[in-house]
Amino acid sequence: MMTNHNAKVWFITGCSTGFGRALAEVVLKQGDRLIATARKPEQLSELVNSFPDTAKAVRLDVTNRQEVDEAVNTALSTFGQIDVLVNNAGYGLLGAIEEVSDSEVRAQFETNFFGALNVTQAVLTHMRSHHSGHILNISSVGGFSGFTGFGIYNATKFALEGASEALAQEVAPFGIHVTIVEPGGFRTDWAGRSMVRSACEIEDYAELSGQTRNWMDREDGNQVGDPARAATAMIEVVNSSQPPLRLVLGADALERIRGELRSVAEELDRWEATSVNTAFSQTASFAV
Ligand SMILES: NC(=O)c1ccc[n+]([C@@H]2O[C@H](COP(=O)([O-])OP(=O)(O)OC[C@H]3O[C@@H](n4cnc5c(N)ncnc54)[C@H](OP(=O)(O)O)[C@@H]3O)[C@@H](O)[C@H]2O)c1
Repeated sequence: MMTNHNAKVWFITGCSTGFGRALAEVVLKQGDRLIATARKPEQLSELVNSFPDTAKAVRLDVTNRQEVDEAVNTALSTFGQIDVLVNNAGYGLLGAIEEVSDSEVRAQFETNFFGALNVTQAVLTHMRSHHSGHILNISSVGGFSGFTGFGIYNATKFALEGASEALAQEVAPFGIHVTIVEPGGFRTDWAGRSMVRSACEIEDYAELSGQTRNWMDREDGNQVGDPARAATAMIEVVNSSQPPLRLVLGADALERIRGELRSVAEELDRWEATSVNTAFSQTASFAV
C-alpha cells in the first residue's frame, strides 16, 4: 500500500489481542498509519508485515518509563507525528478488597493507571506543540460503577476517569481532545488469560466475590460485545468534529451507567437538606 501522508498516525498500547488488536487492524485497513505496541512485538509481525509502509511494531510495557520514551521517540522519528493515542493496555484483578494483596493492588495500578499516565505525559509534549491530537483512554463500565469483587480494578479505572476529566479541560485550549471509553463485556482475552485472581480467597466472601469469579468463568468467550465493532465506534468518535468526553460501548454498559446515574440523582435528592445545611451559621445571617 502507498503511504497516504494525510492519514492519521495512531499510537496504540496493548495490540497483541482484544481491543488493541481489533483497532490496529481497522486503522490499518482504512489507510491510517500505526505504531502498534506490545510487550512482545513479535506477536505483531504478521499484522505489520501486511502493511509494511504504514505499520511499525514497537516493544512497550507501559509500566517501563524508559520503554515509553523510546516508543514515543520511535513513533515521531518514523511518522513525524502522533495524532491519536489509545491507552488500551490493561487487565482485571478479581478479588474482594480484603482478599487482594498489596503487591496485587500496586501492580494493577502500575499498569491500568500509571501506565496510561506515563504514555500520556510522553505524548502530550508533542501533541501540545502540534496544537492537535486525540487521546482515547480505555476505561470500563467499571470505571463509572463499582462491581463486587472488582474493587481495585474499579479504583484504577475511576482514577483514570478522574485524571481524564481534568486532562480534557487542561488540553482543550491546545486543540487536543480526550475521550474516555467505557466498554461493557467484550469477547477479548480480558476475562480469560489476562485476568489476575487474588491469591487469597476468604470463605466469608464466597457468596460475593465467589459469584463474580463464577460469572467471569461463564463470560469468558461468550461476551456479546464484538471488539471489531467497538473499534469502528472508536474511529467514529475520532473522526467526529465534536467528540464526546465519554463513549459507552455495549447495551449492558449503557444500562448499568444509566442505573448508576439514576441512583446517584435519587440519593442526592434524598439527602439534599443534610448536604446543604453545612455552611457557617454567620454565612446564613449575611445572606439574609
Ligand atoms: N474485554 C472487556 O470486556 C473489557 C471491558 C471493559 C474494559 N476493558 C479494558 O480494555 C482494555 C483492553 O483489554 P482487552 O479487553 O482487549 O483484553 P486483552 O485481550 O486481555 O488485551 C489486553 C492487552 O493489554 C496488554 N497489557 C497488559 N499489561 C500490559 C503492560 N504492562 N504493558 C503493555 N501492555 C500490557 C496485553 O498484553 P499481553 O498480550 O502482553 O498480555 C494485551 O495486549 C483493558 O484496559 C481492559 O481493562 C475490557
